[in-house]
Amino acid sequence: MNTKMEKAINEQINAELYSAYLYLSMAAWYSSSGLKGFANWERIQAQEERDHALKFYDYVLARGGAVTLTPIAGPPTEWRTPADAFAFQLEHEQKVTELITNLVNLAQKEKDHASYNMLQWFIDEQVEEEENARDILDKLKLIEGEKGTGVLFMLDKELATRVYTPPVVEKT
Ligand code: FEO
Repeated sequence: MNTKMEKAINEQINAELYSAYLYLSMAAWYSSSGLKGFANWERIQAQEERDHALKFYDYVLARGGAVTLTPIAGPPTEWRTPADAFAFQLEHEQKVTELITNLVNLAQKEKDHASYNMLQWFIDEQVEEEENARDILDKLKLIEGEKGTGVLFMLDKELATRVYTPPVVEKT
C-alpha cells in the first residue's frame, strides 16, 4: 500500500473513532434525558463505529502498513430535541459517506485494487447508516407534528430492543 493510501486510511480510523465518540455522547445525553431506549440504540451504534475503525485498522496491518492513532476531537454533548440529534446524526453520516467516497476515488487513482475492494463494504454500509438515521428522524418529525410524548415513549421502547451483533471475523 502506498503512503498516500496508508495516510488516508489512518485518517478514516480517526473519523470512525470520532463517530463512536459522538454516538456515545448522544447515548449519555439520552440517558440523562430519561430516554433509555434511545441511549441503548446509540450505545450499539458506537460499538458499530468502533468495529468500523477496527476493520480499517486490521486492513492497514494486513497490508504491512503502520497504524497511527491520533487525538480524537471532543463531540457535542447536548442537543435541543431527539429530532435535532437525529438530524445531526444524518448530516454526520452524509459527511462520512463523502469521506468513504473520497477514499474510493483515491484507491482508483492509485490503482490500489485491494483497497478498492475492501472499501466496497463501506459503500454499502453507508447506505444503511444514512437510511437508519433518516428513518428514525422521519418518525420523530411525525411525533413533533402530533405534539405528543406518548409516541416518543413508544419509539423509545422500540429502540430499546436493538441488540449488538458482533461482526463476522474473517479468517486470515
Ligand atoms: Fe462508520 Fe456510521 O459509519
